[in-house]
Amino acid sequence: MTYYDEVADAAASLDCRLGSLAPAIGIVLGSGLGAVADAVSPTAVIPYAAIPHFPQSTVEGHSGRIVFGMLAGVPVIVMQGRVHSYEGYTPLEVTFPMRVLGALGLRAVVLTNAAGGIAEGYRVGQLVLLADHINMMGWNPLLGPNEPRFGFLPGAGRRFFDMTEAYSKPLRALARQSAEEEGFALEEGVYLATAGPSFETPAEIRAFRILGATLVGMSTVPETLVARHMGIEVLGISCVTNLAAGLSSTPLSHEDVNEIGRQVEGRLAAFLKRLTPKIAASLKASL
Ligand code: HPA
Repeated sequence: MTYYDEVADAAASLDCRLGSLAPAIGIVLGSGLGAVADAVSPTAVIPYAAIPHFPQSTVEGHSGRIVFGMLAGVPVIVMQGRVHSYEGYTPLEVTFPMRVLGALGLRAVVLTNAAGGIAEGYRVGQLVLLADHINMMGWNPLLGPNEPRFGFLPGAGRRFFDMTEAYSKPLRALARQSAEEEGFALEEGVYLATAGPSFETPAEIRAFRILGATLVGMSTVPETLVARHMGIEVLGISCVTNLAAGLSSTPLSHEDVNEIGRQVEGRLAAFLKRLTPKIAASLKASL
């Protein structure tokens, strides 16, 4: 079976659980942020283990299930947990779930993550909107033969494609508006992705700052790349779970990352409830 066929197979198995839902919006929940899915009125909850060919999350704080349901009256697909290359997964495995979302007809995806804050002035617990990214993972999930059949949306599936506006400007404007309505300001930042799993050294963080990064993490970039390959609009949101290495006196730990994520979940859920109907309306207007 080819990779494309495996994606189609997984999508077909999920499609019959969707019923008449037809979601156009997906939300991927990062480390410690999984409980945001509780804001969704579910119509189906499917463990990754029940989906053919789906990679299993091995990281604490990532529960590994898909939730279909309604968020603020809008049909959504929520991925509770993701997989990373540091778990031993190949680039194709890491991006398999995003390909399946594409095959299910998604048009916009909100990618959330836990990140270390590099920019001066960032506070722990702050949400930051991604304006751009820097790929320092050392790999790209699109290496290898191009599969044009992944171009589920018009004009997509090309070998070479533009990344000038990887993170949708119109969706970012809607996100800032939603945050304002919730009473907080949403700054924009640049997310730099490393392969992990170790946190960075202080020298690396100083280097990343010079490169223009304001956030550092171990995910999101591969998903953004394949989503853009499929023509899906991307919105990225980081939760600053810690100040990056060398910027605070406490050593970094995954437990702290999850703990801060849990503290921010409520605000993130309220924000996504505001944002989702706005994204749905903008997608409808652009049909
Ligand atoms: N570095 C990399 N990934 C992270 C961090 C960090 O400081 N915090 C949360 N994810």
